[in-house]
Amino acid sequence: MVADVILCAPQVVTCAPGNAPRPGSQMGQLGVVAQGAVAISQGTIVKVGPQSEVLAHYQGPRRYHPGCLVPGLVDPHSHPLFGGSRVHEFQMRAQGATYQEIHAAGGGIWSTVQATRQASEAQLKDSTAQRLRRMLAHGTTTAEVKSGYGLSTAEELRHLGVYQQLKEELPMQLVLTFMGAHAVPQEFAGRQSDFVDLVVDEMVPAVAAQGFAQFGDVFCEQGAFTLEESRRVLLACREHGLRLRIHAEEFTHLGGARMAAELGALSADHLQFLPPEDFAALRQAGTIPVMTAGTSFFLGMSQFAPARGLIEANLPLAIGSDFNAGSCLSESMQMALSLAVLKLGLSPEEAILAATVNSAHSLGLGQQVGSLEAGKRADVLALDLQDVREWPYHYGVNLVEAVYCKGVRLG
Ligand code: NIG
Ligand code: FE
Repeated sequence: MVADVILCAPQVVTCAPGNAPRPGSQMGQLGVVAQGAVAISQGTIVKVGPQSEVLAHYQGPRRYHPGCLVPGLVDPHSHPLFGGSRVHEFQMRAQGATYQEIHAAGGGIWSTVQATRQASEAQLKDSTAQRLRRMLAHGTTTAEVKSGYGLSTAEELRHLGVYQQLKEELPMQLVLTFMGAHAVPQEFAGRQSDFVDLVVDEMVPAVAAQGFAQFGDVFCEQGAFTLEESRRVLLACREHGLRLRIHAEEFTHLGGARMAAELGALSADHLQFLPPEDFAALRQAGTIPVMTAGTSFFLGMSQFAPARGLIEANLPLAIGSDFNAGSCLSESMQMALSLAVLKLGLSPEEAILAATVNSAHSLGLGQQVGSLEAGKRADVLALDLQDVREWPYHYGVNLVEAVYCKGVRLG
């Protein structure tokens, strides 16, 4: 049979089997094929295995890479559409102010909302495209991208519209999430429940009618939305056909993760303050914990999510960048891999599985991406490494030598 291209390398890391989330000890197995090959036809992987086997079945142009081939990274949590800069807050934090103090004083998310509202569609599209291209250059071939710096119906729709245009234009795969309940805008100061009414009664139906967003998310946190408000928002999203995710237990434990699990959320994210008694609810519901160690790191927090406990409780962990203007300004999932090892205590193998198979499942895309297996989208990275376990170890630099999206090499 004939393939469009056959990628060959001394080490092919399949991450297979990827058809189900990998919990607990199953996160440690990467599936490494020595002298391997990946045959690709019409954007889809048709065969993976030792070169001798793949080349016996498939003919076609071959590309030899000297290092490792791995599945494209799947970032299940990012906020890349925003205007302005919060570099002044970065400096304030370096001098001791906390993220929450800045938020309570009217900075934080609200300052980005103001800058984003003022930006033209062309400006937002350009700056977001540039950030998404940077994600792609660092190996993210599928990304979940959230709205939430608009906080009015028209702005949230405008931002989702920009994401939708970029989804059609860029080679990477984007999954859109509506997060209108990200903060209470200043025009609703002192009228928080009216804002929740607006989200539930007007924004969610309008977003559903627009048809671009696949997920709904809410910031369930002290200073943002209460457990009950978050439940209302998520229920409205669910009623309108959106699948659910949540920002929960990021700075305090309110019980948002457990509540989201009860509502059937695909993921519960951040979780720095998730207590062990909430683990079972996530496991039983199949809600995947998404850890964002970059946020704790960037905010100088001592608290990181209880990753080892969750793995011991036999849950499948995913990791995300949480790329955003305020709490984690890094597009790099490679940085997330390093921080998962250094700060969450994952092994390199577990971190890589968390950023591929498990993150794909947290987006409902586990049958399409996350592993190198026949039938999956041909999103493949070639790494400048002899041993894939060195990926998180060699931190803060880009080790991606080539990115293939649907079988096409970029750049
Ligand atoms: O995931 N927690 C809420 N949202 C973002 C921060 C957004 C911002 O500070 O602009 C987060 O950390
Ligand atoms: Fe976030």
